[in-house]
Amino acid sequence: MKTIIEPFRIKSVEPIRMTTHKERRNCLEAAHWNLFNLQSEDVIIDLLTDSGTGAMSSEQWAAIMRGDESYAGSPSFRRFETAVRTIMGFEHVIPTHQGRAAEHLLFEAFGGPGTRIPNNTHFDTTRANAEMSGAEAVDLPCVESRDTRSDHPFKGNVDLAALEQILREDGDSVPLVMVTITNNACGGQPVSLENLRAVRDLCDRFKKPLFVDACRFAENAYLIQQSEDGQGKRSLREIALETLSMADGCTMSAKKDGLANIGGFLGCRDPELAARFRQLLVVTEGFPTYGGLAGRDLEAIAQGLQEVLDQDYQEYRHASIRYVVERLGESGIPVLRPAGGHAIFLDAGRFLPSLQWTEYPGQALAIELYLEGGIRSCEIGSVMLGRKDETSGAQLPAPHELVRLAIPRRTYTQSHMDYLIEVLGRIWKRRDEIGGVAIEWAPEVLRHFSARFRRLGA
Ligand code: F0G
Repeated sequence: MKTIIEPFRIKSVEPIRMTTHKERRNCLEAAHWNLFNLQSEDVIIDLLTDSGTGAMSSEQWAAIMRGDESYAGSPSFRRFETAVRTIMGFEHVIPTHQGRAAEHLLFEAFGGPGTRIPNNTHFDTTRANAEMSGAEAVDLPCVESRDTRSDHPFKGNVDLAALEQILREDGDSVPLVMVTITNNACGGQPVSLENLRAVRDLCDRFKKPLFVDACRFAENAYLIQQSEDGQGKRSLREIALETLSMADGCTMSAKKDGLANIGGFLGCRDPELAARFRQLLVVTEGFPTYGGLAGRDLEAIAQGLQEVLDQDYQEYRHASIRYVVERLGESGIPVLRPAGGHAIFLDAGRFLPSLQWTEYPGQALAIELYLEGGIRSCEIGSVMLGRKDETSGAQLPAPHELVRLAIPRRTYTQSHMDYLIEVLGRIWKRRDEIGGVAIEWAPEVLRHFSARFRRLGA
């Protein structure tokens, strides 16, 4: 097999502090067994998120020096706006401090009590912002997404029949339709052009705007290029532009496929809607030519958007994720298939089958990964996505108990991935000894960030 190498050299390094098992145990105990509470210096490989954790290129650092910090009319804004217009195709560009601020503005304009927002799967902040506005966030993932073992290439797709049913039966309460590319909460799985086209047709039929959550639009474009019929010879740029051409607007976290450490934006085509967003923006984020960002951040994003659609970069990124998924699969370790765009998802429900969902197998496995190898991951299961039943108030499980190993962009090398595989192999061997966890305390919203846990039987 052809070896795909990292298509970059390393110019600046950040040392990693090695820790012992005993030190890690103490750290995690002090953190109430919640990995979000750890100090990052106590982490050897940080796979908590791929958001804002990537390495910037020398061109991005150069662009940062060019950043113009004028309050109004900065050339950095114009470069940022031009990049979004040409690469993503949205005429109106509203900068925000990160993706969730763009979501907040979107639902201020479209949400509210009595509304329902369909999406393939809302990311947690998207759901929280929709719900805070009083809207109901409705997830409509395609049926193929339910089977973590199938190799269906577009498990991020929207369930079209379910979307049509909502629009037909309850269309008046739907102010807009959303599609998240790639579908993070569903395993970083891509959405096909064919599926998006069908969503667009439904939106046209029922006269609804379509907004794409475009955080990982370039990874989605790569997966379309690799797996969708007739797309193999097209450039990532063409595919990305066509994907986004189907939407009336987008929300974007530039911390992912903007290859930046901070930033986000709203894009749209309708000047009246843009004017409304800008009014809200001035009150909550900042003047329309900087939003919540510094001029230098706008420059880093403008440059990042150019680099993210580089074919060699996407080849390497996906090859390293696929490499881990394949090695784990060969060892029998249950991992979500196929490899998604930004992360490896362990199926903790099948890794620790003796644990009930109420013992949070995902959190238990994430704890083991840190204790065994200093690797920080993130539970995406019944801690993060568990819901309260509206009528009985009882806690309900998430569809899957997953642990996400999100791969920061251009940050770790092949040997870090080999280390991850080794650590998981050791945990797999002693999986029968691993106990569950209980939640001691949790807030009402986004509870995974600050919940406190207790280990059962440890
Ligand atoms: N939408 C999706 C699909 C996301 O994955 C995220 C963030 C957001 C919106 C919000 O963007 O963080 O810039 O406010 N996801 C990160 C993650 C946090 O770890 O997956 P933000």
